[in-house]
Amino acid sequence: MRITLIGYGRMGQAVERVATARGHTVLGAIRRDTPPTERLALVREAKVLIDFSHASAVPDTVELALQTQRPLVIGTTGWDSQRETLAQQVLQAGGSVLYAPNFSIAVQRFIHYAVALASELLRLEGWDVAIEEIHHRGKADAPSGTARQLAERLQAQLTTPRTWVPAPPAQARLPKEQFILSTIRLGSEFGTHRLLLDGPYDWIELTHRAKSRDGFAYGAVRCAEWLPQHTGFWSLEQVLDRVLQS
Ligand SMILES: NC(=O)c1ccc[n+]([C@@H]2O[C@H](COP(=O)([O-])OP(=O)(O)OC[C@H]3O[C@@H](n4cnc5c(N)ncnc54)[C@H](OP(=O)(O)O)[C@@H]3O)[C@@H](O)[C@H]2O)c1
Repeated sequence: MRITLIGYGRMGQAVERVATARGHTVLGAIRRDTPPTERLALVREAKVLIDFSHASAVPDTVELALQTQRPLVIGTTGWDSQRETLAQQVLQAGGSVLYAPNFSIAVQRFIHYAVALASELLRLEGWDVAIEEIHHRGKADAPSGTARQLAERLQAQLTTPRTWVPAPPAQARLPKEQFILSTIRLGSEFGTHRLLLDGPYDWIELTHRAKSRDGFAYGAVRCAEWLPQHTGFWSLEQVLDRVLQS
């Protein structure tokens, strides 16, 4: 399969490595300074596009994919506020876009079981929850898309509503209806997400730690293999089982 990358940083290079190992051809990468005619040529030659670039580039990339009718896998994070608008644009145009803030298959399973466990325990008296994410200093957005996904899915499952906040209020106690989603930026850490549960008699920590970027790249490439036959605006959560069976 011919693939064009959008962005050729740490993740773009990992995708190239994994895609090549799976027998695909990476035609090239669109960078910030790639001229429009070259962009168009790279997109037209590709069967599928994979974007790991910057949030500011995502609306233009979606438009280009729709104009050229190319399926687009988006791994770039930090554009959640535009997600609904872009999803409508894709659905109206009959395009194919799949977005995941974290393409690690293990992380999707981690989120699933973490939410199930936390929502069950938080129904009991005296349980509290927090989420922590750690990433390298070069990460452009905070908190991570994955931590937001975990927090928002947990919020949706709780019988007693609680919303996440990035820090306790200054000089005040943390209200009972809030929980902390804390962010650490440290060295070259690939990505750690941790769910902390504190009960009257027990303490539980669930941690996912990426050992390299290749797990994200692998999930994105598997999705790129599945996407061309499927129109719509998809999340990895919606299609993971189908992707793994394809
Ligand atoms: N979904 C996941 O599983 C997952 C996993 C890891 C990371 N991410 C996300 O993926 C994105 C990229 O991460 P990274 O670590 O690869 O970042 P990175 O190393 O900083 O690379 C970003 C790349 O995007 C390019 N870029 C920036 N603006 C662009 C534009 N307007 N058009 C085209 N290319 C542009 C940069 O080009 P220049 O070199 O010209 O600046 C660079 O090549 C981030 O949003 C990150 O949060 C997602």
